[in-house]
Amino acid sequence: MTGLFLLMLLYVFAGHCALWVTVFNRMNAWSCHWLRYSEQAIFVAVSTPFLWAVWHTVSGSLGGVLQEPPAWSVWYACGCGVALTWKLPGWWRQRQAARTAPDALLSHQQRQIDVAAALGEAPASGTGRLWRLIPGNESWQLWIERETVCLPSLPKSMAGITLTHLSDLHLTGLVGKEYFERVVDETNALESDLILVTGDIIDHHRCVPWLQTLFGKLRARHGVFFILGNHDARLGEERVRNELRQAGLISLGGETRSVAWNSLDEHQQATVLLAGDERPWFGAAPPLEHWDDADLRILVAHTPDRYRWAQQQGFDLVVAGHTHGGQVRLPWIGPVLSPSLHGTRYAAGLFDEPPTLMHVSRGISGLQPLRWRCPPELTQLTLMPAGAGERAASS
Ligand SMILES: [Fe+2]
Repeated sequence: MTGLFLLMLLYVFAGHCALWVTVFNRMNAWSCHWLRYSEQAIFVAVSTPFLWAVWHTVSGSLGGVLQEPPAWSVWYACGCGVALTWKLPGWWRQRQAARTAPDALLSHQQRQIDVAAALGEAPASGTGRLWRLIPGNESWQLWIERETVCLPSLPKSMAGITLTHLSDLHLTGLVGKEYFERVVDETNALESDLILVTGDIIDHHRCVPWLQTLFGKLRARHGVFFILGNHDARLGEERVRNELRQAGLISLGGETRSVAWNSLDEHQQATVLLAGDERPWFGAAPPLEHWDDADLRILVAHTPDRYRWAQQQGFDLVVAGHTHGGQVRLPWIGPVLSPSLHGTRYAAGLFDEPPTLMHVSRGISGLQPLRWRCPPELTQLTLMPAGAGERAASS
């Protein structure tokens, strides 16, 4: 009887955690500071008496002084159990989908670089050295992901256009500059047509000089474009934007730009429309100018929550970051924390919900340099038109 009771308590506690993770993820998807910071207070306010009631109930059932838990906590516990039961099927479907590569993914190559080993010492300072000591911390393991994807709307003349997606660098100084220099070198080595940086670039004043020395080295045939993320507000939107502009990057925040693309042999020309969406933190929706003149339309967004809007407008591709792939992925459970209106659904990866394909990056770093089963990611996407999959399969 005691075993069954403890099992029920465990189930209810799992429901309690799932409920508050759900609330946390949704609250952090908004730009309102009050919403973002109030969840800790709400969590403490609700959790403390709940856990107190659980503790007294358990100690009573195990032979201690039986104390009746307050009626509200019993109702709350029942609610947690019901919520978990209701949530489990959807969560299970989501986990299965995450394990299955979408049909749009034609090929995928991975290369792992242990930056700390390559440098002979982990580039870290301050508390970064302590984070480094945590067993299994992958924050200094850079994965280069090269994905060839099918974009049915892509004109055949644009087959093979490449873009490198960089996101969530979170320059704090805890991870040393040498790590990011390696990221820049690897980015340039990919020799993509376009480099797209999807926000959360800097968190600390001491790294401001890095903006020009690091980002000024990025090279791409048709330009390096960026938007800002919510963390970039800490140092001031205009300050970060101006520093990056002075480094030679092109801001897409709330703007749309047409890029004249040509193939390496210069036999093929086309127009790529790049739209930058920094909502809900900065600016407004990008104007959809020159829409009909474009052969390929890409939305560069910080949060994957812009996916629905991009689908409604008919974008071909979205690149986004923000969710860090959860940053810590638990065995069996996967990502838990993911600041999105969709929770962990779009935590990281490739999502093919026609008419729009979306790539969400796990990011390059994080405010806290802690990653488990979720290494940093630098991605090159090679876009292919419809039929390329059959050609790849038959060759
Ligand atoms: Fe971020």
